[in-house]
Amino acid sequence: MKKEKPILDILNGKKPERCPLWLMRQAGRYLPEYKKIRAQAGNFLDLCLTPELAAEITLQPVRRFGFDAAILFADILLVPYALGQGLKFREGEGPVLEPVENDKMLEQLNFKSAVLAPVYETIHTVKKQLPEPVSLIGFCGGLWTVAAYMIDGTSRQDFAAAQNWAVEQPERLERLINTLLDASEHYLCNQIEAGAEILQIFESWAGLLKGSSFERWIIKPTQELIARIKNKHPHIPIIGFPRGAGAHYPAYARETGIDTLGIDQQVSLDYARTQLKPLKLLQGNLDPLLLIKGGEEMRLAAVDILENLGPNHIFNLGHGILPETPLEHVSELTDIVHNFKAAG
Ligand code: CP3
Repeated sequence: MKKEKPILDILNGKKPERCPLWLMRQAGRYLPEYKKIRAQAGNFLDLCLTPELAAEITLQPVRRFGFDAAILFADILLVPYALGQGLKFREGEGPVLEPVENDKMLEQLNFKSAVLAPVYETIHTVKKQLPEPVSLIGFCGGLWTVAAYMIDGTSRQDFAAAQNWAVEQPERLERLINTLLDASEHYLCNQIEAGAEILQIFESWAGLLKGSSFERWIIKPTQELIARIKNKHPHIPIIGFPRGAGAHYPAYARETGIDTLGIDQQVSLDYARTQLKPLKLLQGNLDPLLLIKGGEEMRLAAVDILENLGPNHIFNLGHGILPETPLEHVSELTDIVHNFKAAG
């Protein structure tokens, strides 16, 4: 008999016995075992590009908490790095890219797929060790989000330069997005071919665009990226997470071709249940700050999500887990979700 894979099964339309869960950014600095390897490696980029270490870090949260999925340990900014853009991760400061400021720099971007070969090797290594019921999620950044980092270099000024390109220099932004489209297609298809079973597109800065800009710079390019991937790999489910999309969530769900919609914690459960759940299977949306807080407030909020959206739902946070999160709260949340029985 085929073993159950709770997340993959639910993505394939099978009614779940219980609500599956994983947490965005589940591999990382809230885990002592991550910090230990991180300190040995020294440099975050080296860590992402050393398959044995990246595979070990991918598996750590699954071993400790029994999540239903592992997410590949890598970063959305590896795509700009493979395009030849200078990238550094500074302690306590986050990523710093050498900003793309003019046409000459735009023209010089040249995707070197070999730079990302270690990532595919990580996937092979993880797959050999991953428990059968656990699914492996591959990912990339949303094209707008990655373009925004490439144009501004950091997130410090709310991506003022990228927002300026969207309005004042649309041809330039279009060129950059098309470059990212080709690179991301290649990157994601290679992840699938190496063994990724599900993909997630992290559009972390979707909330910066409104109205027709949202349609042009988020929905259209995402639609194209997904069409290209589905053309080659029609059965790989794709989760889209346009964080902060607000009123644009329904259009994103309907038009991009995603299979599942990730929602952030700003989305009310009432709205999610009545307006979004009829459109797509949902993923989300516990506030990461409540996971830090723990106690009754966290328990009630988790149960509220389960009662409104579960069990046919992928339980997750509304954004990535924060480094100060206590480990006991994560264990408690996992128990709550896995033991929840829907009424009736
Ligand atoms: O556990 C996982 O989710 C897998 C690995 C993963 C990382 N980054 C590792 C990482 C994933 C899926 C990401 C996605 C990512 N990277 C996003 C989208 C999700 C989101 O949080 O909005 C974004 C915007 C980035 C870019 C990035 N990388 C930033 C802004 C930072 C610094 C701030 C931060 O959150 O740490 C990083 C560094 C980074 N990426 C770390 C990790 C574990 C911390 C690096 C360290 O150990 O010093």
